[in-house]
Amino acid sequence: MMSGALSILLNTLCVTQALADDNYRNEPIFPIPLKAELDENKVALGETLFFDTRLSKDNRFSCASCHQLDAGGVDGIALGPSLSEDQHVINTPTVFNAVYNFRQNWDGSVKTLGEQVEMVINNPHEFGTNWNTILPKLNKDIELNNRFYAVYLDGMSRNNVIDAIVEFEKSLTTPNSRFDRYLRNEENSLSKEELKGYRMFKELGCISCHQGINVGGNLYQKFGVFYNYLAERGNINEADYGRMNVTGRQMDAFVFKVPSLRNIMLTAPYLHDGSAENIEQAISIMGRTQLGRTLTDREVFYIKAFLITLTGEYKDKPLNGHRENAS
Ligand code: HEC
Ligand code: HEC
Repeated sequence: MMSGALSILLNTLCVTQALADDNYRNEPIFPIPLKAELDENKVALGETLFFDTRLSKDNRFSCASCHQLDAGGVDGIALGPSLSEDQHVINTPTVFNAVYNFRQNWDGSVKTLGEQVEMVINNPHEFGTNWNTILPKLNKDIELNNRFYAVYLDGMSRNNVIDAIVEFEKSLTTPNSRFDRYLRNEENSLSKEELKGYRMFKELGCISCHQGINVGGNLYQKFGVFYNYLAERGNINEADYGRMNVTGRQMDAFVFKVPSLRNIMLTAPYLHDGSAENIEQAISIMGRTQLGRTLTDREVFYIKAFLITLTGEYKDKPLNGHRENAS
């Protein structure tokens, strides 16, 4: 516990330090750049592939089947579809702003977006296939082949398919949330209630885990520091062990990558098992499990008001979600 708390503190201090020189408010959260420098031809090719079901076994899924870009980048259900079983073993996180996570997946099992794509290809829940099957299928498509040659000297290949998808994922950022505008010192970007919510988020200690550019996504923490929510839920399964599945170490049981809270209003249900149906539940579970506090309705109300301001824009329009309360 002590060393965990210390490392959180140090992390927060480093993040704050890095900000001091920049032209926005000195806060432990910082804004998403308004413009990403990307190769637009690769982005367009990657976008096509993101929606291409030929990448999966029996052409059943594309990335977009689970990561719906017009719905917060998620599927909106606790445990989404699976190629091999009734449902996946873990909740689908959003692809928006994944580029800012220090590791990918709930348990941080892969470091780069490219490795993550490779994992999707082989995962029996997701694409359940391999490159020897995919590439000949794609190769028959003359137009797609031409598009690859227009962007890559060596045309279509495993590496170039991954590279294009990753370039597209880098374009899936959501700048210009009202909170980011506040960080950029834009006047009247937040109401008094929202500012009060942000103050509570800091004072209660949410910020010690959810901070940085992604308001999360930059460290691992145990789920259930103060209270064993998973024991209460029951039926603890392999996915609940989180990072222990990657490292094999007992001390990593129930440890997860702290998820990003950007666009959080659009990505219900919450938690790695999708067991929190709405944001109020997620906030109060966090209070109990991570802070050892029973939050009052008032506290939950203000924190939610702050979280709503984290919804950003994609292609210059507010990001859409499954939920109505997303404004
Ligand atoms: C069948 C549903 C499904 C499909 C298809 C799918 N994903 Fe996912 N995706 C998930 C689930 C579930 C996770 C969480 C896996 C885990 O944590 O172990 C995930 C995790 C991710 C993450 C990590 C996000 C984070 O915050 O850690 C990225 C990035 C991602 N997927 C991108 C893709 C891309 C790109 C494709 C297509 C090549 C794809 N996914 C196809 C369900 C899917
Ligand atoms: C000690 C670190 C820590 C603290 C403090 C903390 N969280 Fe979390 N938070 C996590 C972790 C780890 C998860 C992932 C838990 C899981 O799903 O297994 C999480 C998940 C969440 C989620 C669900 C995200 C999603 O995509 O499903 C929300 C919302 C959230 N936290 C909000 C908060 C709020 C609000 C506070 C303060 C009241 C807070 N957190 C305090 C570590 C922390």
